[in-house]
Amino acid sequence: MAIYYQQENRVFSLHTEHTTYQMKIDDFGFLLHLYYGGKISGSMDYLLTYYDRGFSGNPSDAGDDRTYSMDVLPQEYPGMGTGDYRGSALVIHNADESDCCDLRYVSHNIRKGKYALEGLPAVYANQEEAQTLEILLEDAVSRVQVQLLYGVLEQEDIITRSVKIRNCGTGSVTVEKAASACLDFVTGDYDLISFWGRHMMERNPQRREAGYGSHVFGSRRGTSSHQHNPAVILAEKDTTEEHGNCYGMVFVYSGNFMCETEKDQFGQTRVLMGLQSDCFHYPLEPEETLVVPETILSFSGEGLGELSNRFHRCIREHICRGRYRNRLRPVLLNSWEAAYFDFNGETIYKLAEEAAELGIDMVVMDDGWFGKRDDDNSGLGDWQVNEQKLGCTLGSLVERINSLGVKFGIWIEPEMVSEDSNLYREHPDWALRIPGRKPVRGRNQLVLDFARKEVREYIFDAICKVLDQGNIEYVKWDMNRSISDFYSIENGQGRAAYDYMLGVYDFLEKLTNRYPDLLLEGCSGGGGRFDAGMMYYTSQIWCSDNTDAVDRTRIQYGTSFLYPVSVVGSHVSAVPNHQTGRSVSLNTRGVVAMAGTFGYELSPEKLSKEEREEVKEQVRQYKRYAELIQSGTYYRLSNPMEDAYAAWLFVSEGRERALFNVVMLENHGNMAVSYVKLRGLKKDTVYEDAATGKCYYGCALMEAGIPIPVRQEEYPAYQMELTEKRERI
Ligand code: GLA
Repeated sequence: MAIYYQQENRVFSLHTEHTTYQMKIDDFGFLLHLYYGGKISGSMDYLLTYYDRGFSGNPSDAGDDRTYSMDVLPQEYPGMGTGDYRGSALVIHNADESDCCDLRYVSHNIRKGKYALEGLPAVYANQEEAQTLEILLEDAVSRVQVQLLYGVLEQEDIITRSVKIRNCGTGSVTVEKAASACLDFVTGDYDLISFWGRHMMERNPQRREAGYGSHVFGSRRGTSSHQHNPAVILAEKDTTEEHGNCYGMVFVYSGNFMCETEKDQFGQTRVLMGLQSDCFHYPLEPEETLVVPETILSFSGEGLGELSNRFHRCIREHICRGRYRNRLRPVLLNSWEAAYFDFNGETIYKLAEEAAELGIDMVVMDDGWFGKRDDDNSGLGDWQVNEQKLGCTLGSLVERINSLGVKFGIWIEPEMVSEDSNLYREHPDWALRIPGRKPVRGRNQLVLDFARKEVREYIFDAICKVLDQGNIEYVKWDMNRSISDFYSIENGQGRAAYDYMLGVYDFLEKLTNRYPDLLLEGCSGGGGRFDAGMMYYTSQIWCSDNTDAVDRTRIQYGTSFLYPVSVVGSHVSAVPNHQTGRSVSLNTRGVVAMAGTFGYELSPEKLSKEEREEVKEQVRQYKRYAELIQSGTYYRLSNPMEDAYAAWLFVSEGRERALFNVVMLENHGNMAVSYVKLRGLKKDTVYEDAATGKCYYGCALMEAGIPIPVRQEEYPAYQMELTEKRERI
C-alpha cells in the first residue's frame, strides 16, 4: 500500500520507495500540506506553527484565535478570498460576481490503479503499479466542487496530481485560473531551474535564486513553446548532479501553461503549475466539469541526476505508448535538409537507394509532397498527393522504396491552413480568427480551429486517405507557428486555447488507434512542443530545427534534465551547417546525434567516398549501442553551458556495459588536459575499452576520471564503449 489515511489525526500519507508526501484535514476542513521529501515515518503535523501575524487574515471559523491564518499555513490547493494573499491555485468568478473560492474537505477515496483523464494525456500504470487518492473539496456558498487526484507510482518515486473542477451550483461560474499542483514549503532556500529558449535554441537551463516575491514563466502561444518548457525544478542551494535535495514538476500538456514560484514574507515557498490564466476564462454551466491537465512530481535526495532518471523512467514507461515504446527506432534519412521543397519522386527514391546502401532503415519525405507546395507560402490544408510533382503515385513510390528493403515515412502539418489553398478558399471560417479582425499570420499560414469537430473530421479523413495509399510506417507531425487568434466561433474567447488542445489530442488519439503500428514523431519547428503531453502520442519528438552538433550538445543537455533520450529526435546533417554555418567533423556530428533517435538529414550523394564509408560504420555503431542508448541510465558528466567539453554517459541496467561520450567545445594553444569522471559503474568491476582493449576499474574511472586526448582540431568527439570483464587485473 502506498496511500494511507490515519483517521485519528486525519492525515494522508503517500509513500513511494524513497519519498513521502503528507497532508492533513484540519479542524475547519482546510486541506493543509504537511510534507514532501525523503521517506519519513509518523505524522508531520508538528511542522505547522501558529503565531499572531499582523496583516494576515483569520477565517471566521477560528473565532478570536488570531494565530490561525491561511496566509501562513501551507496548503494543498489554495483558493482565492480566504485571507491567503499568495498566488492561488484556483480563481473562480462566481455567479454572484464575486471571485471567492473557500474549499473545504467533503470526502475521499483510495483505490488501486492510476486514474485516467478523459480527453487528456496522463501517466498510465497497471493496477499493481499504482494507487489513486481522490479528495473532494467544496465551496459551500458557490457549490463549486474540486476533486483533487493523486496517483502514486511507488516503485518509480512518482506522484501525479490533477484536478477536476465541477459546478454543482445553479448559476454559471467562470474558471479564471486553475493549477493542477501546488507545493508549499514552510522552510528552505531554493534555486529555481527552468528551461527557456527560442526557435533553434531550445531548453537552456536557467538556475536562479527563488528569492522573495514571484517568478512567473509560461506560454501564451497556444503550444507549450520553444520559449519556456512546461517543467520546473526546485533545488536546495547546494544541490548538484550527485548530491542534495531537489523537486521536479513536469506538466503533461502541450498548450498554454503557467508556472509560478513565490517566496513569502516568512521565507516560505509556493510553487504552482497549471493552465495559463491569460486568454483563459472557462465558463462552467451547472453540472459541467473542467479537467486541469496533470503534473508529474518527483523528489530526489541524491541530486539532479537521480531526479532526471526518475522522470526518464516515468516518461519512457508510463507516458510513451505504442509499438515503438520499447522497440529500437529505425535509423532514418529525412529529405528536409537534403532537398527542402525541391524534389520529385525520383529524388526520394534516390535517397532510399542511398539509405539501402548505407544501412539506413527508413526514408522520410518531408514537407512539399501535397497540394501546391513548392515553398512555405501555400498548400497547407490540401492533403492530396501532388502526383504531378512526384511524377508517380504515392503508392508506387512507397512500393519501390520498400522493395529496396527501406521503410517509408511522411511529413504532415494537420493543424494548419495556407490562405493560398483550396481548403481555405472553401472554408475561410475554419481558421482561427477574432470576428471583425484580420488573423495574425505566422510563416504565412493560419491555424485551423481544431476545437471544431467538423474541421478535425475533414482533416482526419484527408490524412487517412494519404496514409492508406501505401505501407507508410512513420509520420512526422509538425506545427509551425504560435497561435494568436484565440477565438472559437462556437464558444468565444475564454475556452478557445484549451479546447483547441483537446481537439489536437482527440485527433492524435484517433490516429494512433487507427494506425497502432505507426511511429509518430512530434515536431513544432523542432522543439516548440517538446512536452510530456505530446510524448503520450508521439514516442519521439524532433528536438530542434538546429542540427549543428555544437549547439545540439547544449540543447540536448537542457532537454535531458526531464526528458529521456528515447524521445529526442537527433540527426547528422551536412556541413557547413545550414543553421549556423559551422563545420565540424562527421564523427562529432555522429556522436552527438547518437544521444537520441539517430538519423540523417543530408544528401548522401554529396558525400565523398570516405565519408560514405564513415556513415556506414556510424550506422553500424549506432545499432550496436541503440539498446543501451534507448533504455540505459543517462548521466550528465559536464555542464556544456560552462565547461570546456560536453560529456555524457549511458550505463546498462545491470551496469555491465557503458558508452562514454565527449565533445571538446574549446580549443587553445598548449591546452590543459580535461579529466572526466564517470558515474554509475560498479566499483570493483573491471571494464574493458572495446576499441583499445585497455582495462580500468570502475572505481578508478569514477574517482579519478579519464583524460581526454588533446588534439589540434576543432570540436573533436570521442566515444568509449566499456564492457565488464570477468577477470580482475
Ligand atoms: C519545420 C520542421 C522541419 C521541417 C520543416 C518543413 O520547421 O521542424 O524539420 O519539417 O518544418 O516545413
